[in-house]
Amino acid sequence: MKKNIVAPSLLSANFATLYNDLKMIEIAGAEWVHIDVMDGHFVPNITVGPSFVKSLRKVTKLFFDVHLMITNPEKYWLEFQKAGADLITFHSEISADKKKLIKNIKSTGIKAGVSIVPSTHISEIIKFLPYVDLALVMTVEPGFSGQFFMDEMVLKIKDLRKIIDENNYSCIIEVDGGINQKTYSVCVNAGADALVSGSYIFSSENPKIAIKSLFI
Ligand code: DX5
Ligand code: ZN
Repeated sequence: MKKNIVAPSLLSANFATLYNDLKMIEIAGAEWVHIDVMDGHFVPNITVGPSFVKSLRKVTKLFFDVHLMITNPEKYWLEFQKAGADLITFHSEISADKKKLIKNIKSTGIKAGVSIVPSTHISEIIKFLPYVDLALVMTVEPGFSGQFFMDEMVLKIKDLRKIIDENNYSCIIEVDGGINQKTYSVCVNAGADALVSGSYIFSSENPKIAIKSLFI
């Protein structure tokens, strides 16, 4: 069976010791790190900007999975690309021209992803599957880490997996929210390729073992 991707979310990390956390993630064998960007508008929380990404880029080669929970990604994505993002995922619920956004992001040589919040129907992601590298299914309401996994979202993962496989799309499926030792296998069995996990990893006594426990 193909090994799944684990993308620890820095939202739950201690920002005062991020360097150590990045090194811990590398040693644990995760190749990705998930960076949550929030604007206090699309979601009721504010996190980090491009300068944060730029600083981290200098000290690690981890794949930067940048999740833009912002209302106007069309205004800011390029700053994140220049700062060192490897993948930029924006939300389908925004009003900008999403096909154009995907095309622009990919034209710089990095990957593009599109995400849906729990209340959004998967048709909003299906229409972009031929163009994107990643489809992100939110399994909690975006904005905060430490919430409970919404079981009803598993059907979305299954449906997307079926469509991707039937059409031979190269797009991978990522899940984000409430992923822990109990919920990860449900997602992988449903067809998820990449698992974002924040509080489970960073609040555990041994984050390295927690990361390893999320690989099938
Ligand atoms: C929530 C973020 C997630 C969050 C996940 O809006 O997109 O990436 O950090 O945290 P956990 O794993 O604690 O649900
Ligand atoms: Zn996220």
